[in-house]
Amino acid sequence: MTARAEPLSHHERPTLDTLISRFRSEGTAVEVNFRRLMPSATPSRGAHAIHPYPAKLLVNIPQFFLAALAPDSGSKLLDPFCGSGTVLYEAALAGLRPFGSDSNPLARLVTRAKLTPIDRELVSEELALIMQRYPLLEPDIPDVVNREYWFSDRISQTLGKLRAAILQCVSLHHRPLFDTSFSATVKRVSYADPRLSVPVRINPARSARYGAKGEEVLRRLKRLESVDVAGVFWSIVNQNSRRSRQVRESCAGSSVTIFDDARSLKLPDAAIDIAITSPPYVGAQKYIRASSLSLGWLGFTPECKLRPHERMSIGREHLGRDETWQSDGIGIPVADALLDEIAVRNVLRARIAQRYLLEMRDALAELARVMRPGAQLVLVVGPNLVAGLEFPTPAFLEQLAWRAGFATQLHLIDSIDSRGLMTKRNRTAGVIQQESVFLLTRDPINV
Ligand SMILES: C[S@@+](CC[C@H](N)C(=O)[O-])C[C@H]1O[C@@H](n2cnc3c(N)ncnc32)[C@H](O)[C@@H]1O
Repeated sequence: MTARAEPLSHHERPTLDTLISRFRSEGTAVEVNFRRLMPSATPSRGAHAIHPYPAKLLVNIPQFFLAALAPDSGSKLLDPFCGSGTVLYEAALAGLRPFGSDSNPLARLVTRAKLTPIDRELVSEELALIMQRYPLLEPDIPDVVNREYWFSDRISQTLGKLRAAILQCVSLHHRPLFDTSFSATVKRVSYADPRLSVPVRINPARSARYGAKGEEVLRRLKRLESVDVAGVFWSIVNQNSRRSRQVRESCAGSSVTIFDDARSLKLPDAAIDIAITSPPYVGAQKYIRASSLSLGWLGFTPECKLRPHERMSIGREHLGRDETWQSDGIGIPVADALLDEIAVRNVLRARIAQRYLLEMRDALAELARVMRPGAQLVLVVGPNLVAGLEFPTPAFLEQLAWRAGFATQLHLIDSIDSRGLMTKRNRTAGVIQQESVFLLTRDPINV
């Protein structure tokens, strides 16, 4: 792994060129704090709060690079792991044409909601119609994994009626906004502990374990007995409609193209001018499990099956029988040696980590294919633990990127957690305390 240079002092706010010169002269990663590098940017952008999607990227990172690299207006920007659309929204505000992909249908929905300019008056009318009609409708309750465990019957009935009313009263154009708000409502009225991204049922018998938050969590459980589900939905739609105002004002007319798999983008060769992305971690964030209640209520899990979604998800925690250990390895000696060491401790963890690197290798090759020679890629990724061993994902992905045809221009380390909702993970996955931010160039020589 790359060694680190002395951290910058608190008052320094270097430009990208200064950081690149420092990286070149010292040959080691430069430690920065993106909240200080790009301090003013965050507060006004309410659109990023429309949904609690897990592991969102710190918005200051794309803002810093978009300002520093200043791509021409109309340039095509790609985020192949777009999640809730943090990068794509910022790109649209900067006058770029956003392209993305994500294997999680909830991510694609939230991104669409963020980037679709809305007619606020029409949204109000549609919302009023929903509120008027929903009590009279038959509940439309789709397959939701363990629904009775997560929702009381009264709450399920109301959610089902609201869903029926959304299907009946909302124009296609506004569906992403209403569905995203419905998904945020689902999370709010479930028995899932709101502090965790993966659903874990609040257990009153264990309230002492919740520490200082114990009282608050128990109060929430009490409130759920009489919560006004439609009222929660009404206020989330209104809030999100206000948050979307900026989209309407700043990127009216911009439309977003979203694919579902970073490994097969339906784009021609060399079509993309710039890419900014934060790929998934190996076994660290369970995007599909974290989204399971919403996916169910939105109708994405017929027969309660999450596996088809999980199978497409890089860094997943479960593997199919056919996804076996590849004895010829990744082709990066240090990675293959580490995988062998992990296999001695835990064969399944080693298989999961190897599969992750193989799939990231494919995703980086696809990214190289669609980027034009000389185009720049910002790659944000942190290390984690696999079976108790440090897994230097940044160093491995950097090497895979080289092999795909990229060259490193800059390596930064942000010591502050750059992903809002990332806190503790399970013991085998470990905790991410720092992230690497690479600036890479699509090497014209390797095209
Ligand atoms: C770290 S998150 C990105 C978060 C995003 N930057 C944001 O701010 O919301 C990584 C994303 O990669 C997605 N992902 C996993 N496998 C994928 C695949 N094969 N193709 C595209 N996206 C994938 C996950 O669903 C997840 O949303």
